[in-house]
Amino acid sequence: MSDDQITTSGADLRDVQLSFIGCGIMAESIFAGLLRKGLVAPDQITGSHPRAARRGDLHTRYGIQVVESNRAAAEKKSSDDSMVVLAVKPQRLSVVLAELKGVLQPEQVLLSIVAGAKLETLAHELQHAAIVRAMPNTPAQIGEGTTAWTTTPEVNEAQQAKVRTLLGALGLEMRVETENMIDMATALSATGPTYIFMMMEALVDAGVHMGFSRHVSQDLVIQTMLGSVLFARESAKHPAELRNMVTSPGGTSAEAIYQMEKGSLRTVLSKAVWAAYQRAVALGKKG
Ligand SMILES: NC(=O)c1ccc[n+]([C@@H]2O[C@H](COP(=O)([O-])OP(=O)(O)OC[C@H]3O[C@@H](n4cnc5c(N)ncnc54)[C@H](OP(=O)(O)O)[C@@H]3O)[C@@H](O)[C@H]2O)c1
Repeated sequence: MSDDQITTSGADLRDVQLSFIGCGIMAESIFAGLLRKGLVAPDQITGSHPRAARRGDLHTRYGIQVVESNRAAAEKKSSDDSMVVLAVKPQRLSVVLAELKGVLQPEQVLLSIVAGAKLETLAHELQHAAIVRAMPNTPAQIGEGTTAWTTTPEVNEAQQAKVRTLLGALGLEMRVETENMIDMATALSATGPTYIFMMMEALVDAGVHMGFSRHVSQDLVIQTMLGSVLFARESAKHPAELRNMVTSPGGTSAEAIYQMEKGSLRTVLSKAVWAAYQRAVALGKKG
């Protein structure tokens, strides 16, 4: 890709060397998004992956270099800024951290998306100070994700601006002040699709119960959810106000609301999010 094909929005990533340790679904979502938006060129990206078939496939599809050695991928190769994205599964983390120990230069930024991996653990294991911890969610795979992130104090403003651009490839990115807020975001946005999919499933089943075919019910439910979300975002009104707009006296919505309140829908959701938060905190203590 030539320079004139590279567009810039947010911080410029044209002089950043990007390394991806573990080129699975999420790493691919990030670099595919960056390449699609023209924010980086393929020759800026090096990935590492244990399987030769996956290495070859990624090289063919994206033109990026993919090597076997995690250390070789993470090494700083030039005077350019360098960001190393850690995207392996939590179960592989300790092995990979041991491999990477001592390889990062102080000015490199490590960006971890590994669920439950705390800044302190990463800093200690890698003997490295400039670290970003990010928590994306599954819609990131289609560029519609929500990613909360925080950093150690050693990540400077200019580096943070680049992190913003990089995570923007996954959808909405939001910097949060504390690591506890990453646990909170784990419960709300990273676990969020679970709440939505379960409600989606329940509504589709309710449609089938009334007599719609499954695919008709699914189409009706998905578009209703999508339309309601877009409407809420565009109108910027409080959800209760939007709900009141469709609740006529003695009507169908009023009848449905009565049953949802009777079944404690709000309390169940609140308890589910709180339980997920407690679980995120507990898993962080273990790791
Ligand atoms: N997916 C999400 O929506 C999501 C959301 C939030 C956070 N995360 C976090 O993102 C991280 C990556 O998730 P993912 O969904 O992208 O998982 P994934 O698709 O399994 O990606 C991990 C990749 O790492 C490779 N790998 C295995 N051992 C390795 C090693 N020793 N060195 C280098 N690479 C190795 C795996 O290879 P194989 O294919 O051979 O196993 C796999 O391709 C996880 O820590 C997860 O907690 C994911």
